[in-house]
Amino acid sequence: MRVCRVGLVGAGGVAQRHARVLTGFDDVELVAVTDVTPDAASALVGQHGGRACADVAELLATGPDAVYICVPPFAHGPAEEAVIEAGVPMFVEKPVSADLGTAERIADLVARSGLRTAVGHHWRYLTVLDEARALLADRPVRLVSGAWLDKVPPVAWWSRRDRSGGPVVEQAAHVLDLIRVLAGEVTEVTAYGNGTPPPVDGADIDSVTTAALRFADGAVGTLSAACVLGWKHRAGLEILADGLALALSEDGLTIRDADGERHVPADPDAARVAVDRAFVDAVRGIGDDVRVPYAEALATQRLALAVADSARTGATVRLTTPGLPAVLDTGVTADA
Ligand SMILES: NC(=O)c1ccc[n+]([C@@H]2O[C@H](COP(=O)([O-])OP(=O)(O)OC[C@H]3O[C@@H](n4cnc5c(N)ncnc54)[C@H](O)[C@@H]3O)[C@@H](O)[C@H]2O)c1
Repeated sequence: MRVCRVGLVGAGGVAQRHARVLTGFDDVELVAVTDVTPDAASALVGQHGGRACADVAELLATGPDAVYICVPPFAHGPAEEAVIEAGVPMFVEKPVSADLGTAERIADLVARSGLRTAVGHHWRYLTVLDEARALLADRPVRLVSGAWLDKVPPVAWWSRRDRSGGPVVEQAAHVLDLIRVLAGEVTEVTAYGNGTPPPVDGADIDSVTTAALRFADGAVGTLSAACVLGWKHRAGLEILADGLALALSEDGLTIRDADGERHVPADPDAARVAVDRAFVDAVRGIGDDVRVPYAEALATQRLALAVADSARTGATVRLTTPGLPAVLDTGVTADA
């Protein structure tokens, strides 16, 4: 394959970013875009080329080598099914769904198809992540503290639980994904929501959620999400190990140990480019650096949904298969 011909499903904010990044690569051509709002597809095609298609079937008929699925959480499912059926590799934006059933169904189809997949957890490509992992290699994590403290994003679906899955699933999933990388699998979650939606029309999500996490390797921690501010206040995580404190965000890693404190900057835009580069290279057969294939994203999705479920029901949720795509202990949830 000389050039990777890409189709985009969804033409909103994140699709525009992928279109910009992908068309900046010499070996990628944007061939088709579809969106339930046809004007959005036309506008994107007008900027970056390709053909505006009426639906996913028409997009697949253009014969893309890969498809990006950039729809809101509630809209996942049908596009993935069609793309898998057509045997085309796919990049899916996070979160992979608003519910667990859709994500499990698609993960199963992906596993049977053997198709290349990638999910947009671009934080995995932050250059400082390797350094954090190396520092933690010989000392167990004791305490984890993750947070995403922000405003309500300006998209109508975001503040509706059935549309977005809520702030933990929709946004803090980036932090939960890195927590899994650095501290291992969570086995138990007890979460609380404040029961007060943000002051946005139709909102039914908690404006604040906080969760206590127990990890398989003995660490404990917390995850907090808030959308009560008018600005992005903080998104990232802190980790304490014996004699070591790490603070990681998209902007870099702050390390404090017996020798003092130092900051290693990171470039979030470079990570956003790297996630696309890795997927395209994998599709072209010239690289193998996809860090979050669909099955791995499913594990993060289970954790995010466990936090959301616990906050909603008031029950502790156990994740019963640490390290593997885990199974929610529905008995615990159902008891609520
Ligand atoms: N990885 C990241 O850094 C990152 C950044 C931004 C957004 N996202 C994720 O990307 C997803 C989309 O976010 P966004 O900001 O682009 O939202 P958006 O609302 O700006 O765009 C979504 C687009 O999808 C279209 N759409 C909805 N249902 C569709 C369907 N069934 N078929 C085709 N098109 C459909 C909408 O018309 C809209 O144009 C969200 O899940 C969000 O979390 C990820």
